Amino acid sequence: DWTSAAFIETTIAELQETLGNDKVVLGLSGGVDSSVAAVLLHKAIGTNLHCIFVDNGLLRKDEYEQVLEQYKHMGLNIKGIDAKDRFLSQLAGLKDPELKRKAIGRVFIEVFDDAAHELTGVNWLGQGTIYPDVIESISVNGPSATIKSHHNVGGLPDFMKLKVVEPLKTLFKDEVRRVGKALGIDDVILGRHPFPGPGLAIRILGDVTPEKVEILQHADAIYIHELKAAGLYDKVWQAGAIFLPVQSVGVMGDERTYENVICLRAVESVDGMTADWCHLPYDVLAKISNEIINKVKGINRVVYDISSKPPATIEWE
Ligand code: XMP
Repeated sequence: DWTSAAFIETTIAELQETLGNDKVVLGLSGGVDSSVAAVLLHKAIGTNLHCIFVDNGLLRKDEYEQVLEQYKHMGLNIKGIDAKDRFLSQLAGLKDPELKRKAIGRVFIEVFDDAAHELTGVNWLGQGTIYPDVIESISVNGPSATIKSHHNVGGLPDFMKLKVVEPLKTLFKDEVRRVGKALGIDDVILGRHPFPGPGLAIRILGDVTPEKVEILQHADAIYIHELKAAGLYDKVWQAGAIFLPVQSVGVMGDERTYENVICLRAVESVDGMTADWCHLPYDVLAKISNEIINKVKGINRVVYDISSKPPATIEWE
């Protein structure tokens, strides 16, 4: 029967056999799958693994700096790329969710291709693909699905012509976590909620601006902090705040305000294909709402999403 120790041992041997002295480039997302794939590859081929971590400006608050630091700490050979402006300028004015996804996929490919070109002699593209990604068309696990759907016609960028190595391709999510644990990867990384490749861009309904990103990052950080403080983060499968393109009237002191609405989403799920909204305790919701309204400038109302999937989806876009 399956054990993570046996899987790690055989996989490292196979990777060494397949890769020899070849170089591999891998895009890290901060998520569980790409992190575990990177550590396995690192154990097998050491510094011949070159990791790239792109800041698309659509990550959670401070996540880029924190995750980059964590990865460096783990000894990975990693290059961080600040591409915030490239992504945000390409998103300017786009309202349609699929156009937003396409723009993000396109810029990611450009940025990643540029970075991969700076590495000489790379022959392989490493990916954190897991078994459900292989059998399902939707990937919850980074931009690879976007890349494929965007580039199945026409010319492929150079890094997509590389041979692909996917050490987690036979594993389910819980097995990936067990392997990660056995590899000594921090629980902060292994327990992280799934986060979509297009990031906060699909949690800002309508067009994305740097100001909206900042507001949403602040509100989302308060939400996640309070979930952790209440001991609920690990019980929730995925949570996040959504910036609604709606303004509503409020009062502050003697002043009438007319500001935006933040929606909180939290779901229980096994694989993201179906999901139930979480019955978060009212006192926790009250605390989160007060904190967001008091601290986040530009928000005067917080609502909670009580829709399950299907027929609603987890994300709003
Ligand atoms: P939905 O909204 O379809 O989400 O119920 C199911 C899971 O997929 C994630 N998701 C995405 N992940 N690129 C991704 O990498 C995307 O475009 C994307 N859209 C949704 C979502 O966060 C949830 O975990």
